Amino acid sequence: MNSVDARTVPADPESARRLREQGFDYRVVDIADYGSAVAFAQAAERGFLGGAPSDAEIERMRETWEERRNVGVYEADAVASALPVGTVNSWVASMSLPGGDARSAIPMWAISMVTVAATHRRRGIARGLLEGELRAAASAGVPVAGLTVTEATIYGRYGFGPAVPVSRIAVDARASGWRAPQAPGRLEYVGLDELARELGELHERARFARAGQIAGWRGRWLGQAGLGAGSKKDASARGVHYRDVDGVVRGAIAYTLKELPGSFRNSMTIRQLVAETDDALSALWGFAVNHDLVDRIEADLRPVDDPVVRLVANPHAVDVAVRDHGWLRILDAPAALRARRYAASLDTVIRVEDGYGFADGTWRLSIDAAGAAEVEATDAAPDVVLDVATLSSAYAGGVPLTQLAAAGRVQGDAAAVTALGRALHADPAPTLSIWY
Ligand SMILES: CC(C)(COP(=O)(O)OP(=O)(O)OC[C@H]1O[C@@H](n2cnc3c(N)ncnc32)[C@H](O)[C@@H]1OP(=O)(O)O)[C@@H](O)C(=O)NCCC(=O)NCCS
Repeated sequence: MNSVDARTVPADPESARRLREQGFDYRVVDIADYGSAVAFAQAAERGFLGGAPSDAEIERMRETWEERRNVGVYEADAVASALPVGTVNSWVASMSLPGGDARSAIPMWAISMVTVAATHRRRGIARGLLEGELRAAASAGVPVAGLTVTEATIYGRYGFGPAVPVSRIAVDARASGWRAPQAPGRLEYVGLDELARELGELHERARFARAGQIAGWRGRWLGQAGLGAGSKKDASARGVHYRDVDGVVRGAIAYTLKELPGSFRNSMTIRQLVAETDDALSALWGFAVNHDLVDRIEADLRPVDDPVVRLVANPHAVDVAVRDHGWLRILDAPAALRARRYAASLDTVIRVEDGYGFADGTWRLSIDAAGAAEVEATDAAPDVVLDVATLSSAYAGGVPLTQLAAAGRVQGDAAAVTALGRALHADPAPTLSIWY
């Protein structure tokens, strides 16, 4: 599927018009202009309740944002140097889908940096920003939009559904033991520059094995490797990689250690753990769990079926807390439904309700024995009826359709819902190891 460069998509005229009526100027920001970049960065940091960004942080953000479409909302009569009162940025990211390789990836309009100044809250600015992103994505032919959220009650109204759950894992290393066999390769410490490069390369190779993963970017890997813009936590980052018996790097871990007060013992936070083989994953988890003087290991954004609970001798020593992370919003139902592979053959008619109209329609979904789908508009009576947020939740295969049905989000007879749910299910579980 062809991708587009989000930076070529102009500011949405409808949001521009609506916000202008309220005295605001909604426009694409020229982030190459230093003053505009500084103001955008300061507004975004303030929006997330952070302090003023340092010059180094601004430089790092600018490098990332130059690849993105940055939109700001300004007071119409503001001076040129004024901070925007609303920010958002977006880019078209490749997202993996069930299918297991790069051919079943889809262009996704990734939305980030949604902030509104606390002085301007609840005046419809976020609505203008979000609706503007959806119209921009749809106008560019991008079939799906996505975001990660700090609050889970904001985005359903725009048709987003929580689609890619992740787990936060805590291992009590004093009680866990270890039962997995020794992996045949070897572990080595790596310098942080090399770690950043390897995290990026490994992620890009490994991510197609699970649906829901998006391509990363340089600033992300530098930050995970502790080469961000100089926070205290960054200063204690370390990295280890795993080489297989042929000497090929198959996995890497970026982590920090923190002393538990007065104990000479430590807790380890895994910032990123990426592995493209089971051996590499087992070896790197083993490195963390069996590390001397470490009592506790924490890792966030792990797959809900992470095998660590089977690698240790005592599963009770592993706490796995599952929560929503990746949210999706289908904009073009036929394109989205055609792009992925399915787990079972099926011939069904689904009615998708979308108040915004983007994905609204009734579609015959015909899935062959190989899991490939044909999708056609139809006037036939639907077997299954659901709204676009619900379909978006189930789309990547990580949220069971039967669970959504049990919550009253899907209409249709039980057999039709179960059959569609079985086809949508993805194994291994989708995941998303990136915040954006
Ligand atoms: C969340 C935030 C972007 C909302 O901006 P805003 O301009 O005040 O929102 P709007 O006035 O456009 O509100 C649009 C709708 O969202 C609702 N809403 C806004 N903030 C909400 C919140 N925190 N929780 C739940 N609903 C919220 C509004 O009630 C309104 O609902 P309605 O139109 O259906 O009646 C803003 O408060 C903010 O910047 N917060 C800090 C940064 C942040 O959390 N960003 C989100 C990152 S995921």
